[in-house]
Amino acid sequence: MHSGKSVGIVSTGKGLPVCRLTNLELEEIVDTSDEWIISRTGIKERRIISNSETNSELSFIASKIALDRANLKPEDLDLIIVATVTPDMLFPSTACLIQAKLEAYNAAAFDLAAGCTGFLYGLSVGEQYIKTGAAKNVLLVGVDTLSTIVDWQDRNTCVLFGDGAGAVVLQEVEENRGLLSCKLFSDGNKGDLLCVPAGGSRFPATRQTVEKKMHYIKMNGPEVFKFAVTVMINSTLTVLEMCGKKPADLDYLVPHQANIRIINAASRKLGLKPEQVLANIDRYGNMSSASIPVVLDEAVEEGKIKRGDLIALVSFGAGLTWGAAVLNW
Ligand code: ACO
Repeated sequence: MHSGKSVGIVSTGKGLPVCRLTNLELEEIVDTSDEWIISRTGIKERRIISNSETNSELSFIASKIALDRANLKPEDLDLIIVATVTPDMLFPSTACLIQAKLEAYNAAAFDLAAGCTGFLYGLSVGEQYIKTGAAKNVLLVGVDTLSTIVDWQDRNTCVLFGDGAGAVVLQEVEENRGLLSCKLFSDGNKGDLLCVPAGGSRFPATRQTVEKKMHYIKMNGPEVFKFAVTVMINSTLTVLEMCGKKPADLDYLVPHQANIRIINAASRKLGLKPEQVLANIDRYGNMSSASIPVVLDEAVEEGKIKRGDLIALVSFGAGLTWGAAVLNW
C-alpha cells in the first residue's frame, strides 16, 4: 500500500549542444528542402552534439541547474534516473556517469529505456520511490543524442531529430499538488516500426551489420504518425479522467515534440486552443526523452507555467511505448 504522499516536479534544467543545424544546411547533406521540412514537420533547426559534447555531459549541465534551483546539494540525492536510448556506452549507465560527475555519493543510479516516452516512464518510477518512502530527492533526466544513431544519408529520418537533455527534481509536495494522475502503456508487437536493429546482443557490431547500416534508426514514419495521433489523444483523455478533469480544464498540454502535425492533430481532437499547447519543435526537432523536460524548462523560465497551473504531459516512442500524466504545477 502506498502512502497518500503527493509527488511533484520542484525544479527544472536543461543542457543543449552549442551547434545548430538548420534546414538550409541539411539541404547540403541530403535531397531535401527547408520548405519540405517545415511544412511536413514544423522543424526549422536542431542542436547537434560536437565531438567534445556527450549525452552524460549535457545531462550533467541540466542536472546541475535543476539541483541548484531546488536548493539541493548532490549528496542530498537518493536516486538518479536517466531516461535515454543513446547512453554514452552500453555500460556503465549514464546515470552512474552523472552520479560520479555530480559527486552524488548517497544516490542509487540507473538508466531506463522507453524511447521518447522515457521521461514519463521515469516520472512514474520516481513518483513510486517517493511515495513508498524509498527516496526523498529524485533527479530525473531525459536525454538523447539521436544524431549519433541517425543515417545522415536517409532523408526520411535525419531531418527529424536533435540532441539535448532536460532534468527535473522530484520531491514530496503539498497534498493535491504535483502528479494527479499518470498512466503508461506499451505494445512490443509494434516494435519494428521504430528500432535500431544492431549493436545489442542479438546483432553485435560486425562488418556486415555496419555495411547494412543496421546501427541506424529504422522508422516507418507514416505508421508511427497514425499511431501517435491516436494514442496521444486517448492517453491524455485517460489521465484527465483519472483525476476528474476535462481538456478544457488544462492550462497547458506539453506533448512530445516529434512532428508539429502530430501535435496539432491531437490537440485539435482534444478541443484545445493553440495557446494551451506548448511546442519548441521548430528550434530543437525531436529530442526524444529530452523533449518534454526541455519544453517544461523553457515554459517555466519564460514565466508561462506558474504554480497552480493544470498541465498534461503526453508522449509516445520506440517500444512502442506511450503514456501521459496530469500535474497541478
Ligand atoms: N525531404 C524531402 N522529401 C522527403 C523527406 C525529406 N526530408 N523525407 C521524406 N520525403 C519524401 C518521401 O520520400 C516521400 O516521397 P515519395 O512519395 O516519392 O516516396 C514523400 O516525401 C512523402 O513521404 P511521407 O512518408 O508520406 O511523408 P509524411 O507526410 O508521412 O511525413 C514524416 C514523413 C515527417 C516522417 C512523418 O511520417 C512523421 O513525422 N512520422 C512520425 C515520426 C515520429 O514521430 N517518430 C517518432 C520517433 S520517437 C522515438 O522514440 C525516437
